[in-house]
Amino acid sequence: MNLARRTMNSSAFAVVYERAWRPAAFFVATGRTMQADRRDAARTLRLGAGSKVLDVACGPGNITHYLSEQLSGDGYAVGLDFSTPMLRQALADNSGPRVGYLRGDARQLPFPDGSFDAVCCFGALYLIPDPLEAVREMIRVLAPGGRIALSASQRTDTWFGFVSSMVGGAGGLRVFGVDTFPELFARSGLVDIDQEIHGLLQYVSASRPQ
Ligand SMILES: C[S@@+](CC[C@H](N)C(=O)[O-])C[C@H]1O[C@@H](n2cnc3c(N)ncnc32)[C@H](O)[C@@H]1O
Repeated sequence: MNLARRTMNSSAFAVVYERAWRPAAFFVATGRTMQADRRDAARTLRLGAGSKVLDVACGPGNITHYLSEQLSGDGYAVGLDFSTPMLRQALADNSGPRVGYLRGDARQLPFPDGSFDAVCCFGALYLIPDPLEAVREMIRVLAPGGRIALSASQRTDTWFGFVSSMVGGAGGLRVFGVDTFPELFARSGLVDIDQEIHGLLQYVSASRPQ
């Protein structure tokens, strides 16, 4: 297990992740706050009141819970993660009437095809050994008419990008080309593909046709 994966499985890291690590590290990487990431997640996923939402690699539920609060009626959000300490933290900090958490592997989602109206994965694909398999799984469980959204690292030619990909690579983090996800979405028959670049991260979303 590499350093990045070991860190995600540490109880101490799970405790500080939402309060300190996530706001600080993502702000340095993207210039964005967690509030902006949460709001944009709900916007790009185009949530309806009764949407069924899956948040893959949800960590301590810092985005899952916010998404669940946008729902009503039959809507609910499920957060899935590999790390028991992260899920324990999710239950402690981000429980609610419309959110539930599940331990599982992003590369083998335990759901039938087309189960969710919105599927997302933020800040995690660079940790997963076979990230494109995880994205294919997300597409498989997306219902016709549903929306998928992800954020992931992106290759950048600046000195900051170079240094961070060297440091990140040594710790087990991957860096993706800007075409990787738009091309995979297009090849998978998704439409209405949108991409934004913020610093070291790319934010990509798309829809599954009806
Ligand atoms: C940096 S956190 C991201 C948490 C949250 N999505 C966010 O945007 O802040 C990355 C999460 O990915 C999870 N993870 C890594 N590999 C995974 C896998 N194969 N399946 C499920 N979760 C995984 C880790 O346990 C960790 O909680």
